[in-house]
Amino acid sequence: MKAIILGSAAGGGLPQWNCRCRVCELARLDDGRVSPRTQSSIAVTQDGEHWLLVNASPDIRQQIAATRELHPRHGARHSPIAAVLLTNGDVDHVAGLLTLRESQPFKLYATATTRESLDANRIFSVANPDFVPRLPIVMDEPFEPVPGLVVTMFAVPGKVPLWLEDAAMVIGEATETTVGLDIEAGGRRLLYVPGCADVTDAVKRRIRGADALLFDGTLFTDGEMVEAGLGHKTARRMGHVPMSGDGGSLERLRDLPVGRRIFVHINNTNPVLVAETRERGTAEASGWEIGHDGMEVAL
Ligand code: MLT
Ligand code: MN
Ligand code: ZN
Repeated sequence: MKAIILGSAAGGGLPQWNCRCRVCELARLDDGRVSPRTQSSIAVTQDGEHWLLVNASPDIRQQIAATRELHPRHGARHSPIAAVLLTNGDVDHVAGLLTLRESQPFKLYATATTRESLDANRIFSVANPDFVPRLPIVMDEPFEPVPGLVVTMFAVPGKVPLWLEDAAMVIGEATETTVGLDIEAGGRRLLYVPGCADVTDAVKRRIRGADALLFDGTLFTDGEMVEAGLGHKTARRMGHVPMSGDGGSLERLRDLPVGRRIFVHINNTNPVLVAETRERGTAEASGWEIGHDGMEVAL
């Protein structure tokens, strides 16, 4: 199995169009300590011919252009992307569907909850269901979206997408709104969890023994955005467990047996994005790699 991290940033990317935080400013300066990053997506294959795109980011056009493996290779119209799977309905995970039009057939998989929100938005019919069937998936039941990859979706603590929030929303319930993926091929397991509000025992049971884990690395501290004067929401309020602190992902996942552990969906404010920061050192000392665009995971 081979996975390519197409986009390692959270919503907004790095630099984010309207942000003057330290990391965005360094990225704009072409400072060698920070590389720009596109929004959250990976591509995975077993046979090299058929690729599963997990999450369709607003940057998908740029991501495909930058990734030779995803260029068309047969006939007049073709794409190696044979299936697309969504882990939630957030803008950074679904807006790329608007780019994947042009009557190109592929299978689209999402939970019933996420499919309902696509069905309710007519603009997504540009990915014409005649070519792009929206297929149901049953949680916790393995299926094979592309040859050789056996995928199991499981609920993780999360919340509804930001654009569907209302007064009644609950944060941290493990429902179909936010899922993680267990991707298995040839006895090797890749776990992809780009959004997770809490590292519960159930989440740990899923991850245990994975050969590689790509995990929610949105913020380093819970109050990072508040303290930087960039908003009033904590990481947990946004449905993302912070890396540091009590109950943070570094602590909760510390003793879990896992092969490579890589942070993805990293918000542009997160100081781990900058080489030689204390926070980068802390994450790396705990065995974590900081995901970057184009990073490959071969299992
Ligand atoms: C998130 O991961 O919290 C969302 O992508 C936020 C957003 O939609 O901008
Ligand atoms: Mn996001
Ligand atoms: Zn920023």
